[in-house]
Amino acid sequence: MAAVDIAGLGKRFGETIALSPSDLQIADGEFVVLVGPSGCGKSTLLRMIAGLESASEGRILIGGRDVTDVPPAERGVAMVFQSYALYPHLTVAGNIAFPLKVAGLLKREIAERVAEAAAMLDLTDLLDRRPRALSGGQRQRVSIARAIVRRPQVLLLDEPLSNLDTSLRARMRHEFARLHQQLGATMIYVTHDQLEAMTLANRIVVMSAGRIEQVGAPIDVYRRPASIAVAAAIGSPGMNLLPAMLAAVTPTGTTLRLSDGALVTTAAQASVDDVGTAVTLGVRPEHLVPDEDGPFAGAVELFERLGPLSFAHLGARGDVDTIVAQLPGDRSVTLGEVLHFSIAPHDAHVFAADGRAYPLTPPPSSPVR
Ligand SMILES: Nc1ncnc2c1ncn2[C@@H]1O[C@H](COP(=O)(O)OP(=O)(O)O)[C@@H](O)[C@H]1O
Ligand SMILES: [Mg+2]
Repeated sequence: MAAVDIAGLGKRFGETIALSPSDLQIADGEFVVLVGPSGCGKSTLLRMIAGLESASEGRILIGGRDVTDVPPAERGVAMVFQSYALYPHLTVAGNIAFPLKVAGLLKREIAERVAEAAAMLDLTDLLDRRPRALSGGQRQRVSIARAIVRRPQVLLLDEPLSNLDTSLRARMRHEFARLHQQLGATMIYVTHDQLEAMTLANRIVVMSAGRIEQVGAPIDVYRRPASIAVAAAIGSPGMNLLPAMLAAVTPTGTTLRLSDGALVTTAAQASVDDVGTAVTLGVRPEHLVPDEDGPFAGAVELFERLGPLSFAHLGARGDVDTIVAQLPGDRSVTLGEVLHFSIAPHDAHVFAADGRAYPLTPPPSSPVR
């Protein structure tokens, strides 16, 4: 097991900046998930840790050792790919044993370790099969067994569930959580699926356009996204983002004016210099509270019933996009019905023109007796 320390690490492919110089400290035994839209640099960062891509600048330390110029096989890392990359002519046992044979381990040691990895991934009964006789989920389990059989200090996983169907993905999510507990290894997991990120990670690293935007516990990042890019990447359905103008600074926050003139009170802390500037108001669907006098209004264009809850899509007005509001599952709505909502000041996210979130004024403390 080992900590991973990334310092000023950057990668350019010709003119493309795949990763701007970035810092990231991952603790020994931690399960970290890199999440963000396609093309934001997740695989590049992972492949640099693995040693499959060279660094354009910066350093990588694994267990305190500088491995920036160390070949992949000597870094103590193993990687699981989305494509599984199994050898079709080898059996399951042969595939799992392969890296140990290459490393020149004794036959008996190899047999023991293959049996152990197979048991951990529920593959014991499939050891004599060839990959083509396995389901997608079984193939992915073989590729994971092949990675852990070397007892890596750090296990790297690049979108390992992307080729599986939804129910299998849910099952495999539980398996990864269990595997992490059993192995105790440091795990770095790449996904564009925010549900995987939220459920698996000790900490998530949200990336956008080759930059690390925010690092934190999943629930903290969900509650307090540091930028519009993070707000857009985490949460489904996504946060509503509305153009607004910062109309006034008050002792408890700010007042925003929406493009249709409605005023919204927020707890965002801005400077008086910001009055009159364009901002973006972010509101999560579950924070819209039905309120006849509320500033958010619109006719229902689409109504999605999921069972325990529903989502109402309110029609676009002017330059305000559709607003999505979460409603209780037993609430019925007719299409075209006009709904009104308000929000609590502390549930409003306010983003400056550069995308950064304004900090919040602290909530009023409970009265002291
Ligand atoms: N080998 C390569 N040559 C040129 N450009 C690359 C190469 N690998 C990745 N890129 C570019 O780097 C950026 C980040 O890619 P990648 O790390 O694969 O993103 P992600 O895994 O988040 O989808 C993209 O713009 C991609 O086109
Ligand atoms: Mg990728």
